[in-house]
Amino acid sequence: MIRILPAREVSGEICVPGDKSISHRALILAALAAGASEVENLSEGRDVRSTAAVLRKLGVKIMEDGWNRVRILGCGRFGFREPPGILYCGNSGTTARLMAAVLTGQRFFSVLAGDTSLSRRPMKRVVEPLQRMGARIEGRQGGEFLPLAISGAELRGIRYRMPVASAQVKTALLLAGLLAEGETRISEPSRSRDHTERFFRWLGIDFSSSGLQHRVRPSQIRAFRMKVPGDFSSAAFFLALAVLHPRAELTIHNVNLNPTRTGFLRVLQRMGAEIRITVEDKEPEPVGSLHVRSSALKNVPVPAEEIPQMIDELPLLGLVAACAEGVLELRGARELRVKESDRIAALVSQLRRMGASIEERDDGFFVEGPAVLKGCRLRSFGDHRIAMTLAVAASIARGESLLAGEAWIRISFPAFFATLKAIGGQFE
Ligand code: S3P
Repeated sequence: MIRILPAREVSGEICVPGDKSISHRALILAALAAGASEVENLSEGRDVRSTAAVLRKLGVKIMEDGWNRVRILGCGRFGFREPPGILYCGNSGTTARLMAAVLTGQRFFSVLAGDTSLSRRPMKRVVEPLQRMGARIEGRQGGEFLPLAISGAELRGIRYRMPVASAQVKTALLLAGLLAEGETRISEPSRSRDHTERFFRWLGIDFSSSGLQHRVRPSQIRAFRMKVPGDFSSAAFFLALAVLHPRAELTIHNVNLNPTRTGFLRVLQRMGAEIRITVEDKEPEPVGSLHVRSSALKNVPVPAEEIPQMIDELPLLGLVAACAEGVLELRGARELRVKESDRIAALVSQLRRMGASIEERDDGFFVEGPAVLKGCRLRSFGDHRIAMTLAVAASIARGESLLAGEAWIRISFPAFFATLKAIGGQFE
């Protein structure tokens, strides 16, 4: 439990941890590569540690010089060894879904398991297309839930039209395509984060994309060196805090500005947020700084096509919309119900306690602002992004809040409270 008081002002210059999505991909691709790779600035969160722990159990050597510089001795695509015990993915959906794909193409038996929250999240979305590729994979309730038992098989390429926009599913199938015979073609219903596609091109993998269609052929993977840029999804909490706080001026350095991730930034700008962007690097991922200050915000429409590009920032959008003028009706975001928690129910219940006018929709929420939030008792529902959204809400509310379950922030951003303190946050 943490006691959070309103911040008197918000100011300073900060960095955020390495991007979580890119960190998972970097570890997995380095493990599949032949030779030694070096990755700097990996995400410090528990989720990325889960991926590293699973890879280590498969025989991958990961040497740390702190978590800031990691050397990975890749085993090649088919060089992993059969693990004697289960592979525990903790709370990490990305670990479970991406590793399920990699393991189906091996020649041995393995079992993936996770914590209570992960064991409730849908897996059929990867299990079913992998089975079509020839995978021998089974799970609880017909493959819908962990644990997954994988017998290993020779995969063959397929053509697959994804029913939901999900970068995890897309990435899982592209990784399986690297191990399969023949060509794998995937089409997604709308554009989700494209870190895997950028990574594949950068590594010279036999891969091409045109719009929402992707094509990959089995390829060897070369070892690489990379520096992971800061996580936009972590930066987003401080962006929201700065635009909502009446006395704020903040710079966030070294942030990944991949347009398939920054939908929330574009919506904030449409709402009238004062944000200046300096782009410093472009390849393989755009990176730059964000300069942001207190802003007068008006709600704007957010069409469903934009949702995949801000999927992890939607709880923050609900908070910002509740404090902005006018109404926002967000629809087409049913995926929020199957994240680390039911994020629609979690967000709406907690913001209502704080005095916001927000209601659930089956696939989103309806918000009417502006509300003046008041501090109260809050809980995180075991969800790191809900915990951080509520810590931001408590920092701009009137009076004190008591937030239970704040330790879940370790999943993606262990230094969140230290960063909040550095820019004027007050808590104990
Ligand atoms: C992720 C994709 C998103 C996101 C998750 C990370 C990824 O999930 O919510 O935090 O790294 O590909 P979905 O692909 O299931 O939408």
